[in-house]
Amino acid sequence: MSGQDEVYERWRTDPEGFWEEAGRSVHWFRKWDAVLDSSRPPFYRWFPGALTNSCYNALDWHVEQGRAEQAALIYDSPVTGALRVYTYRELLAEVARFGGALLRLGITAGDRVIIYMSMVPEAVVAMLACARLGAVHSVVFGGFAANELAVRISDARPKLIVATSCGIEANRIVAYKPLLDAAIEKASWKPERCIMLQRREHTADLVPERDLDWTEVMAGAQPAACVPMAATDPLYILYTSGTTGKPKGVVRDNGGHLVAVRWSMKAIYGIEPGETFWAASDLGWAVGHSYIVYGPLFHGCTTILYEGKPVGTPDPGAFWRVISQHNVRALFTAPTAFRAIKRDDPAGTYIRRYDLSGLRTLFLAGERCDPDTLLWAQKRLNVPVVDHWWQTETGWPIAANCVGLGMLPVKPGSCAKAVPGYDVRVLGEHGREAPDGEMGEIVIKLPLPPGCLPTLWNDDAGFQNAYLRPRPGYYHTADAGYRDRDGYLWIMCRTDDIINVAGHRLSTGGLEEVVASHPDVAECAVIGVADEIKGEVPLGLVVLKAGVARPAEEIAAELVEMVRERVGPIASFRLAAIVKRLPKTRSGKIVRGTIKKIADGLKYQVPATIDDPATLEEIAASLSAIGFPRRLYQR
Ligand code: COA
Ligand code: AMP
Repeated sequence: MSGQDEVYERWRTDPEGFWEEAGRSVHWFRKWDAVLDSSRPPFYRWFPGALTNSCYNALDWHVEQGRAEQAALIYDSPVTGALRVYTYRELLAEVARFGGALLRLGITAGDRVIIYMSMVPEAVVAMLACARLGAVHSVVFGGFAANELAVRISDARPKLIVATSCGIEANRIVAYKPLLDAAIEKASWKPERCIMLQRREHTADLVPERDLDWTEVMAGAQPAACVPMAATDPLYILYTSGTTGKPKGVVRDNGGHLVAVRWSMKAIYGIEPGETFWAASDLGWAVGHSYIVYGPLFHGCTTILYEGKPVGTPDPGAFWRVISQHNVRALFTAPTAFRAIKRDDPAGTYIRRYDLSGLRTLFLAGERCDPDTLLWAQKRLNVPVVDHWWQTETGWPIAANCVGLGMLPVKPGSCAKAVPGYDVRVLGEHGREAPDGEMGEIVIKLPLPPGCLPTLWNDDAGFQNAYLRPRPGYYHTADAGYRDRDGYLWIMCRTDDIINVAGHRLSTGGLEEVVASHPDVAECAVIGVADEIKGEVPLGLVVLKAGVARPAEEIAAELVEMVRERVGPIASFRLAAIVKRLPKTRSGKIVRGTIKKIADGLKYQVPATIDDPATLEEIAASLSAIGFPRRLYQR
């Protein structure tokens, strides 16, 4: 039995005892009354009665225990040339002062604060300052358009928004302020104040009475103390794509999150306090919350905040430069980053220019990792490559090769085994457990472990409908796959309309809403098609209204612009094809799965329920006219 199997068994025999023990390694102002409150199923709460503070655990506690002069955060920004190191003492001072500034503005426990910032240390300061006061932060990714930000403002109802004047992409500067202003204009809720961090590369005009300058707000602010919060109080809300255009507000609590994420640093990532951990992601995603900010800081590590890309900032050696310069022990990123590096430097020439002897492990997640990419990385870096599976909702890995519990043999294409805490099942027909090797829907038996979402923001009913109703007693992951004879999980695809673009989650339903709103469009379907670098990209198939005679290219270009405007550039919506009709079943459902197979050049069967098989040939011809199927790596 491997170490991971043994620990899994220990958890299975006594789940509450297991988490009680893990809970002992963090700081509490008051211990819990019970480890788990299961009095209100299907709602469960971890560590009820306990009082803690997530910021105290991330900073103050380490300073008190002798880590004051250790680097807490290294800000490395190839797009601006900046490099700044914050010790635990310095980061604490900044956070406490910004907390004081927030207090002066009347922010107290329970208030929501939206953070719409690029990858700058002040974004981390703002997150931790909210945690310090018990205010609930909600970070919104900078690549989203005004409309997406507006939806989040209307739902979270923040008292305050903290923003940067701009974001800096490899090829351009993105002014955030016009997006922020437009979002506030559109939103049904108006924040009282906005704090603007003016970046040197582009400054924004401030709205009198409403907008404040970060520097002025900080001037003279007195450090704020940590507010003891109930373990069950929300720490943050993070919106993620649902099956409609309306995003879901995933809630994370203080206590369960603290215990689980801290536990994962050693058990899953094999990292010791004092070592450097780098999650090359964005603060706007769950990975950024758990593994740029909270996890490494809870564990007393040095974390890296990288404002750049894997390629082009300035070259495909960017990651290796950061690893060697800051002595990174473990790197966590998405397979798409490695596909981009592999494309620009197939022989790994840049890897050999740097001393990577300190790197122990590479972790990949966010999308299915094709075995080619995993093997390429393993061979070139000469370290184990761990594919692990998780979701924004869980906040930490569901299945992984737990490096800190003893490595299991790697099976490329599999995310290894369920992590202790997760009772993962594969359900086949009629909800019965599928035998090994058989595809099914993947569910997790309730209760979910600490750290996973207790509910959706202000939406218990939505939480139940989306995740608990489909299979009573289980959390519905909306992923499909199978378990093999050795207990390894293979996550193959989503069962809903979510697609995964460069590790980012997008709802095709949401994209369809935008495309369908074009005045010339009669109906449309958006599907995810395979892409060499991003894994998947959206493709819009559009039927025009009768009598529309404008050139197809003109309309397609307008659709691309509309999605960029309303959802944001991160949707990577660049492909739109005008077609005569959409293939449908006799009951009128568009056969998206079959269209996807045609676009990807895969074998397909004509669905028995198809209304008119000729529509499939028509679609194949339309797709072929715009270059499909494309030549891709083997998936
Ligand atoms: N603010 C504003 N715009 C942003 C943005 C931000 N924070 N982040 C991305 N964008 C824009 C990009 O500039 C790009 O715009 P463009 O269409 O004008 O070129 C668009 O959104 C798509 O961005 P991205 O998906 O990052 O694609 P890319 O072509 O710029 O880079 C990769 C491709 C593979 C290099 C990139 O996706 C990457 O580094 N991925 C790493 C994986 C990752 O972070 N995963 C997160 C989960 S772990
Ligand atoms: P997100 O919430 O953005 O992290 O996206 C979660 C989704 O990404 C999951 O439901 C999966 O569909 C997919 N995903 C994440 N990690 C993996 C992985 N290691 N293997 C396969 N799919 C993954």
